[in-house]
Formats: sequence, structure tokens, C-alpha cells
Amino acid sequence: MSIETVGIVGAGTMGSGIAQAAAMSGYRVVVQDIADSQLERGLGSIEKSLAKLVEKEKIDQQTMDSARNSLTTTTEINDLGSVDIVIEAAIENMELKIALFEKLNGVCKADAIIASNTSSLSLTRLAAASGRPDKVVGLHFFNPVPLMKLVEVIRALQTSDETYAAVDALARQLGKVPVSVKDSPGFVVNRMLVPMINEAAFLLHEGIADAAEIDEAMKLGANHPIGPLALADMIGIDVCYFVIKILQDEFGDSKYRPCPLIKQLVDAGRLGRKSGRGFFDYSK
Ligand SMILES: NC(=O)c1ccc[n+]([C@@H]2O[C@H](COP(=O)([O-])OP(=O)(O)OC[C@H]3O[C@@H](n4cnc5c(N)ncnc54)[C@H](O)[C@@H]3O)[C@@H](O)[C@H]2O)c1
Repeated sequence: MSIETVGIVGAGTMGSGIAQAAAMSGYRVVVQDIADSQLERGLGSIEKSLAKLVEKEKIDQQTMDSARNSLTTTTEINDLGSVDIVIEAAIENMELKIALFEKLNGVCKADAIIASNTSSLSLTRLAAASGRPDKVVGLHFFNPVPLMKLVEVIRALQTSDETYAAVDALARQLGKVPVSVKDSPGFVVNRMLVPMINEAAFLLHEGIADAAEIDEAMKLGANHPIGPLALADMIGIDVCYFVIKILQDEFGDSKYRPCPLIKQLVDAGRLGRKSGRGFFDYSK
């Protein structure tokens, strides 16, 4: 099937990034969110990012203008009735996503694909609830979407070969490198990354080294561009806690037990960069 129009649900960090990538690649894009304020914010951040890319001569003014003109926004889910694919990027909550998928099934064309950008939830469960299980698939983009090359393409147990081929081609059209992954908690990247962050938190919690030293060790000793604790502050410590809990619950393996320090930071509202403080202090 050919994809010409892309619908995005959720105009937050990821939804607006995916919308920008799709618009820059020549797709018509309809972005839907329940909050007008989020649509305005999302569009504002897309415009800023496009202008920066022009300034850095990564794209020309014409690409910026045509990307901007191919984007429309709406608070009405019914406006997604004519899109070829919906990429859902609403908040990470299974009940909410199931309700959304049920609604989308009623709204979208019969042959439209419904993809989710979930970081950790089961695509197989979403597919089962969707009313069109063979047309459900995971498209896991990384933040910031316009810059990050990887997309994990996650096959639910029910995803058809046709659906898989269509989204694999879409990811390539967006200039991304798709990696094929079976539906499994944390997929590939978060299954490795979040336990590493959790282990770094244990090192800190046990007083083995301080936060700056732990990060320095992984930068210089493993050639990581950023240390695990600074990365956790970027991702959001609440998000890391949520993902490690999912791994623990789904696998029932004690190796995924969350570090108590991570839970404490969440309880204290020290969520990382977004709250001004996490493992490190960003208040100054
Ligand atoms: N932030 C990341 O680094 C990252 C990376 C990969 C995947 N993800 C996943 O992408 C999804 C979105 O994450 P985010 O960081 O962009 O979240 P966000 O909080 O920035 O944005 C979520 C948006 O969804 C909207 N929303 C909530 N309920 C809705 C509904 N019923 N219908 C339409 N819109 C609704 C909110 O108004 C908000 O604008 C989550 O599933 C998350 O796990 C996030």
C-alpha cells in the first residue's frame, strides 16, 4: 500500500518530532491532540527546528516552507478519517492507548495502518484491542526525532507482512534506519539501556563512586558520548523508573528490580532536566 498522508496523535515531544520528519520528507501530515495549547507548542517547536536547519544550511527555505505548508493540526480525532497511517504518540499509558486504538479503528479508513510510538507497552495487546490487528505495528522513534537515525519497527504477533513492509518503507523515506524487532518488553534499545542506567544508579546508591565519576567512567571507558546518569536526567527519571518496572513486571526477573534511589528521586520530584534536578543539578 502507498502512504501519502500521515496522521499523528499527540503533539508532544515525540509527536511533533515525527510530524516534522514526515513533513520534511514530503508527506501531508495531520497532527491531532486533545489540547490546543499542545498543538500550538508542537507547531512552534517544529517551526523553530526548521528555521534552525535552514540557518545551518541542512535544508533550504523551500523545503522549510513546503514542510510547514503540509502540516495541519486539529483537536478532532475524526479529522484522521482520510490518512493512510496514524502514528500514535500520546502518553505512555496502556488503558489510554487501548481506548485511542478503539476510537481510531472507528474513524480511520479500513486499510489504514495504526502504529504506536510506545517505548515499552505490548504492541500485541494493542493490536488485539484495535479491531484491525494485522494493521497494527510499533514505530519506535528516538528523541530528538529529526536528528536520531534509528527507528525500531516492532512486529506485534498479529502484524501482517504487508503492514510491516509499508512502515519499513516509510521509515526509510523519513531518512531513518529501521531495525526489525519482535514485540517484547523494552524492545532492543530500552531492554539494554534502562538496566544500564538502573545499574549506574545502584553504583551511586551503594557509594561505589559519585555521579560525575560514574558518568566519566562510561564516557572514557566505554566511549559513550554521555554518561548513564546524565542520560537518565535527559530521558526523565520517572520514565526510566516506569520502563524498569515494566521489565520487572513482564519478565518477573529480579535482575530488573528498580534501584531504590531511582524511586526516591521520583518521589522527591527530582525528575532530571525537566524539573531542574535529577542525578545532577540544572538550576544554575
Ligand atoms: N520522550 C521520549 O524520549 C520518547 C522516546 C520514544 C518514545 N516515546 C513514547 O512516545 C509517546 C509520547 O511521548 P512524549 O514524550 O512525546 O509525551 P508528551 O507528554 O511530550 O506528549 C504527549 C501528548 O499526547 C497528548 N495526549 C494525551 N492524551 C491524548 C489523547 N487521548 N488523544 C490525543 N492526544 C493526547 C498530550 O496532550 C501531549 O501533547 C509515549 O508513548 C512515549 O513512551 C517517548
